Amino acid sequence: MPQLKELPSVTFNDGSGGVLAFKRDQLAFLSHGLERHGDIFRFRPLGIPMVLVNHPDHIRHILVDKGDKYDKNATLFKIVRPVLRKGLIANADMELWRRQRRMMAPHFTPKAVSAFARNMTDETARSLEHWRSAYGDGRTMDVTDEVGALALRIVNRSLFSADVNETALAFERAFATANTVLGAFFRFPFPPLSVPTPSHRRLRRAIDEMDAFVSGFVKKRVAEDVPVGDETDLLTLLLHTVDEVDGHGMDLEQLHHEVLNICIGAYETTTNTLSWVFYLLARHPEVEKRLHEEVDRVLGGRTPAFEDLRDLTYTRMIVDETLRVYSPAYQFMRHATEDDEIDGYRVPAGSNVLINSYFLHRHPDFWDEPERFRPERFGPQESAGRPKHAYLPFGGGHRVCIGKHFALTELTLVLATVASGHRLVLPEGAPEVVPEALITLHPKGGVHLRLERR
Ligand code: HEM
Repeated sequence: MPQLKELPSVTFNDGSGGVLAFKRDQLAFLSHGLERHGDIFRFRPLGIPMVLVNHPDHIRHILVDKGDKYDKNATLFKIVRPVLRKGLIANADMELWRRQRRMMAPHFTPKAVSAFARNMTDETARSLEHWRSAYGDGRTMDVTDEVGALALRIVNRSLFSADVNETALAFERAFATANTVLGAFFRFPFPPLSVPTPSHRRLRRAIDEMDAFVSGFVKKRVAEDVPVGDETDLLTLLLHTVDEVDGHGMDLEQLHHEVLNICIGAYETTTNTLSWVFYLLARHPEVEKRLHEEVDRVLGGRTPAFEDLRDLTYTRMIVDETLRVYSPAYQFMRHATEDDEIDGYRVPAGSNVLINSYFLHRHPDFWDEPERFRPERFGPQESAGRPKHAYLPFGGGHRVCIGKHFALTELTLVLATVASGHRLVLPEGAPEVVPEALITLHPKGGVHLRLERR
């Protein structure tokens, strides 16, 4: 290798080497590093070697060109592994991951996902009915709570054919606890999770609750021995899936982990996106007006179907732009399995490479007026020439989100269904909602809006 440069390092004169600054405000800490050093730098919270990369070329190098040299044995995934275990999201055993992904991928193609479109619009109609009766008098609605319940009903109806209205609340609370405890632990990973502090005990209880939620459905379905048919849900499909290479299915423990990963992967991300969509629309009447024109023209008041997606182009651009501004899975990480070079810098084996799409999606070289909410930037003309790895709401390379088509279908259909007859407006004097950097990027305090009929 030629002589390589050492990565610039973020230092703080607060006596903690940056740990306290990272703990206090992770986004401010990284923003400071980017301002000082540009697109690549290192830092060492509590001695953990981290490298932030923020250029599409560097990211393509890590996720695609050298994707097999960067695995998921990174700190972030070690932190979330007690929850996600052997499921796809945090799995670092490449052989097991490849087998699982091979078996599961056919159930998440756009065509496979089209079978769940009715679940998405039916459940949205049901939410609207509830919203009208509970908030039709002008009372403010906790949008984050409400779209969270909706997202969970959609994924659970698609997974289990189940109506989870009642039990969903326990899962939502358990997930919120895990997100908060692990988010804090990521910013300051001490003491270890095995130490039974009050918050680590809360995490244990939250994991048990999420497990109980999933295993109730899995055990019942195994006992029922339901065959695959026309109206089959994801659980039955996964239960009957056989690997094309070894001819076997997945064992029940693995199935449990995958189902939990799907619930978690699908729930919080879509909840956050829908909360931000409605918040951003309430703040941008000019965007909302174009949205209403489109849904009126395409749908004329009827419920959208999967086939309408190709005509709901502006609706989809609103979703894309929301995922740029407030990318819910805003950070992911890889572990360098061997020494590498990026842009002339030495990246030592063992480094945790952090990709943070909050900053990537605001990179001034690729995004004009990055702080502005402007869906038009996702039109064909403006998108042309933008590097693929400048926009990563669903990650990239072989670990790209398996639920990407499910999510985009759901987000676009929910938005079109709501916008057809309703608006969510800002109550007078409502404060600005800011993002909170937990394991996911959450609207701090939730989004609160008023429901109006159009
Ligand atoms: C707006 C919605 C969503 C966003 C922003 C999102 C984001 C992401 C991202 C960034 C990754 C890659 C992480 C990495 O490379 O380290 C990922 C992976 C994953 N997501 Fe999603 N996701 C969303 C919805 C969903 C849905 C609806 C499902 C399931 C139905 C899902 C299931 C998964 C799974 C299982 C993985 C792991 C894939 C693998 O490694 O093979 N996600 N997601």
